[in-house]
Amino acid sequence: MQQTFTIRKFVPDDLQSVMQINRVCLPENYTDFFFVDLHQRFPETFIIAEEGGKAAGYIMCRIEVGLSNYGFGGLIRKGHVVSIAVLPQSRRKGIAQALINRALEGMEYYKAKQCFLEVRVTNEAGISLYKKLGFEVTRTVNGYYSDGEDAYVMTKRIP
Ligand code: ACO
Ligand code: ZN
Repeated sequence: MQQTFTIRKFVPDDLQSVMQINRVCLPENYTDFFFVDLHQRFPETFIIAEEGGKAAGYIMCRIEVGLSNYGFGGLIRKGHVVSIAVLPQSRRKGIAQALINRALEGMEYYKAKQCFLEVRVTNEAGISLYKKLGFEVTRTVNGYYSDGEDAYVMTKRIP
């Protein structure tokens, strides 16, 4: 099937649509400052999917420094997927997969050696998506979410 969406970098005019997608799709919501700040610091990993001329999904990330999960020791840069979401009517078309792949290129540009994220242990769509892209569960964080649910930390090497 023909791809129905396009992938591009976030621009400040996208702020309201991204905040709306975030509210529709996830219980974890953020202030406008939080989105703007992430974009100012890490523009290469704040990516939008557009379908029919409108934003249908986003991914936003942060680069952090931490210990390697893969035994080559010392401190490395890690790309942290802070939030990803796709509007319900635009799902199962490969949009999230395309968003993550584009964000991974941005992480590579920032010289990150790993990518990681937290996901609810009951989020089957998210977990399958990340596994399909080569992420593996590296840790469970008990009570990570404000409602008490546990998170899996999932990690992937870059490139
Ligand atoms: N059930 C099972 N597997 C799924 C599902 C699902 N509902 N959705 C995606 N997948 C897996 C499949 O393997 C799929 O490949 P396939 O369609 O060829 O079988 C693969 O992931 C790729 O799917 P995409 O079409 O790229 O994913 P989509 O664009 O639908 O977005 C997402 C997936 C982001 C999880 C979407 O369902 C969503 O927005 N959910 C609500 C918000 C959310 O949970 N965000 C992630 C929270 S964790 C975090 O932000 C770090
Ligand atoms: Zn996180």
